Amino acid sequence: MSEPALSDSEYLSRQSVFLGQLPEGSLVLMPTNPVVYRSNDTTFPFRANSYMLYLCGWSDPEAVLMAHREGAEWITTLFVQPHDTKAEIWEGRRVGIEGTVSGWPVDQAHSLEDIADSVTSHLNACTSVYCISGLNSELDELISRVDGAELADPTPILDDMRVLKSKDEIRLMQESADIASASHIAAMRATFPGIGEWQVQSAIEAHFIACKSRWSYPSIVGGGDNATILHYNSNDNKISDGELVLVDAGCEVSGYASDITRTWPVNGKFSDQQREVYELVLKAELAGIEACQAGSPWSSMHHATSRVLAQGLIDLGVLDCSLEDALGDDFNGPFRNYFMHGSGHMLGLDVHDVGGGRQGDDKPERSFEPGMVLTVEPGLYFGSWRTDVEIPERYAGIGVRIEDNVLITSDGPVVLTSSCPKTIDEIEALVGNDG
Ligand code: GLY
Ligand code: MN
Ligand code: MN
Repeated sequence: MSEPALSDSEYLSRQSVFLGQLPEGSLVLMPTNPVVYRSNDTTFPFRANSYMLYLCGWSDPEAVLMAHREGAEWITTLFVQPHDTKAEIWEGRRVGIEGTVSGWPVDQAHSLEDIADSVTSHLNACTSVYCISGLNSELDELISRVDGAELADPTPILDDMRVLKSKDEIRLMQESADIASASHIAAMRATFPGIGEWQVQSAIEAHFIACKSRWSYPSIVGGGDNATILHYNSNDNKISDGELVLVDAGCEVSGYASDITRTWPVNGKFSDQQREVYELVLKAELAGIEACQAGSPWSSMHHATSRVLAQGLIDLGVLDCSLEDALGDDFNGPFRNYFMHGSGHMLGLDVHDVGGGRQGDDKPERSFEPGMVLTVEPGLYFGSWRTDVEIPERYAGIGVRIEDNVLITSDGPVVLTSSCPKTIDEIEALVGNDG
C-alpha cells in the first residue's frame, strides 16, 4: 500500500495536458506492469509502470487507468484490486475502492473484477484506443475483440511531457541523488584490497535500503578488467590489491531515478597509469557538464566529452594521429575503440528516461531546456582481454567511468550528485577510511 508521491494538482494537470491532445472519440486504457512469476508462487519484485506513476502515482500491482469522455468532460477511472481479506492476509493490505477515490487523483474507482464489462461498453463507443499493449493480457484481449476502433500509442505525447521536470519532481530527484551519493561514499569507505565485488554492492545497496529506497537498475560493480565490461553485473569476483573498481549504482525515490558512477582504487591510492586515465575522464566529464547549457543542442555535450577524450588519448600516446582523425566522421573515429557508449541520457521515472533521445545516437537533435535532467558519463576502457583493437600495455585492465546527474537551468547546469566525491584527492581520502 502506498501514497501518491506528488500533489493532486500536479497529477490532474498532467492528465489534462495529455487528454487535451487526444482527438474526439478517444478512450485511454493505461495498464500498470504485470506481476512476473519467477517460479511457482514466487514473483520478481514488482515495480509499477512509469506511465501509471506519471499520470496518477499509483504504485500497487494490477491496476488499469481509464479515461473516457462524457460530453466535453474527461472522466478518469482507476480499476484496482478490491478489498479481500484472504488475499490481503497473504499479499498485503490493499487500498481498496473507497481508499482509491478518496486518496488518488481520479474521478472514480472500480474493482478490477468489473473491468471487462465496464471497458467493453466504452470500447464499443470509441474510435481510437490509446493503450500500451503487451502489459495486461486481459485488456489486450478485450481490445482485440473490438471492431472499428483503432489502436493508438499514447507514449509519444506522454514522453514529450515527461522530458521537463517540475519543481517537485526535481525535489524527488535531488533526494534520490543524495541517497545514491551517500551510498557511494559508504562503499568507498568499506573498500579494502581483496574485497569481493558483491561486498561493495552490499555496502551500496544497504544504504539504499536504510534510506527506504531501492536500486533503479541492477548495480554494476566491476573490479579490474570487469570495469571494462559496460553492463557487467554478476559482481561475483574478488578485487585484487592495485586494481580499480568501477561502481555504477543508483536508486529511486517515488520512482525517480539517480544514476551515479564512480571509480576508485581498492587500496586507496591511484597508480600513475590509473591516475592518467582517471584525470582524463574527469576532465572530459567536467567539459560535458559545462556543455549542458539551455539552448545548446543535445549533441554538444557528447561532442565536448569526445573532444577531450580524443585529444587525451593522443597526448597519452594511445592514438597516433591528428585530433580530426581521432574524432573521425560524425564523432565515430578511433577514440571510440576506448569509449564505446553515449555520453549520457535523460533521467527521470526511468533510468534511461524517455523523450530526449540519447547522447551520441542518431535520434533527432533537441536543444537543452531548463527542467531537463540528464546524465553525463564519459569513460575509457582498456580491457586486457580484448583482441579487436590494440590495448596499450600501460593501461591494460583499466576501466574508468565518472557519471553525474545534471539539471539544466537557465543559469547553467546544476549537478544533483555534487555531494558524491570525484577528485583524486577526495577519493583517496575516503577509500578504506571507515572511521
Ligand atoms: N546505469 C546505466 C547507465 O549509466 O546508463
Ligand atoms: Mn547512465
Ligand atoms: Mn550509470
